Amino acid sequence: MADLSLETTTKMELIPFGADGRELSAPSGSTILHALRLNGIETPTLCYLETLTPVSVCRVCVVELDGNRTLVPSCSRLLEAGMRIQTDSPRVRLARKLVLELLVSAVDMSLVNEDTRAWMHFYGVDEQRFERGAVPVARSTEPVIEDNPLFVRDYSKCMLCYKCVEACGTDAQNTFAISIKGRGFGASVSTEFSVSLAESACVFCGNCIAVCPTGALMPITEYRLRNEANWRPEDQTVTRTVCPFCGVGCNLELTVQDNRIIKATSPQDHSITHGSLCIKGRFGWEFINQRGEEQPVNSVDQTTMRDGHE
Ligand code: SF4
Ligand code: SF4
Ligand code: FES
Repeated sequence: MADLSLETTTKMELIPFGADGRELSAPSGSTILHALRLNGIETPTLCYLETLTPVSVCRVCVVELDGNRTLVPSCSRLLEAGMRIQTDSPRVRLARKLVLELLVSAVDMSLVNEDTRAWMHFYGVDEQRFERGAVPVARSTEPVIEDNPLFVRDYSKCMLCYKCVEACGTDAQNTFAISIKGRGFGASVSTEFSVSLAESACVFCGNCIAVCPTGALMPITEYRLRNEANWRPEDQTVTRTVCPFCGVGCNLELTVQDNRIIKATSPQDHSITHGSLCIKGRFGWEFINQRGEEQPVNSVDQTTMRDGHE
């Protein structure tokens, strides 16, 4: 992936392009998406994340390019000098609206982030448009998978963005515990031969949870609080600290509710870890919550893990 930090980009050659009638420039090596964002033009994305290699499967970031027959995904198409780009034409609006309407007809999008909700509103997405008579994708009726004490997988919320597969692969963890099985309506994220996570190559780093945009992957603490209707973002604080377990010194962001840690994440924009953690940093904080006889919510039962997972 190209290094597009400010320090690097200031040394790069700027190439000119036009977007929405404005004359603009961006460093060579930029994708169209990055060039647009550098110039303050917002573009919706779902399968894209700065820390992952673009796979361009959702198509919500498409733009119109003069001389190009089809719309192009801005997250992966490299900027070329002289390109004339439309980001808000009727054709682009229609395509983005349709992508979002098809997605919401296929999977549960109730936990997507606020940005995506705002884009759905902006494009006037009709959430009921394809509901009547539509054949549900196979994974939309799968029960929530609770096969380990740390996190759940609810593939009825999975939009097949591939982010978890990439984070488990060469973009972060290099563990390759999950991939896409099946094709078309039958496609789904899966371990090899659909074995439980504990029986798979999974090392329970939770880096897949960190990148999932829909809440399909969720720490068990959050899942249980949501089920009890006790997940209260308005009463939560997030504190940044340093993981105490080893010398790598990953940054942690601890979400606290009712004076208990309920989730640990890592900042996406950290220059060393890019949001990744290991099992200890992401899940190894329950001992702090222990009060008297209370049992930890997500205590790691080591007997359910393969050797070397902790
Ligand atoms: S589980 Fe989440 S991250 Fe993985 S493909 Fe589905 S939506 Fe994307
Ligand atoms: S998250 Fe893991 S690798 Fe990072 S500091 Fe903690 S123990 Fe070390
Ligand atoms: S964000 Fe570009 S195709 Fe998904």
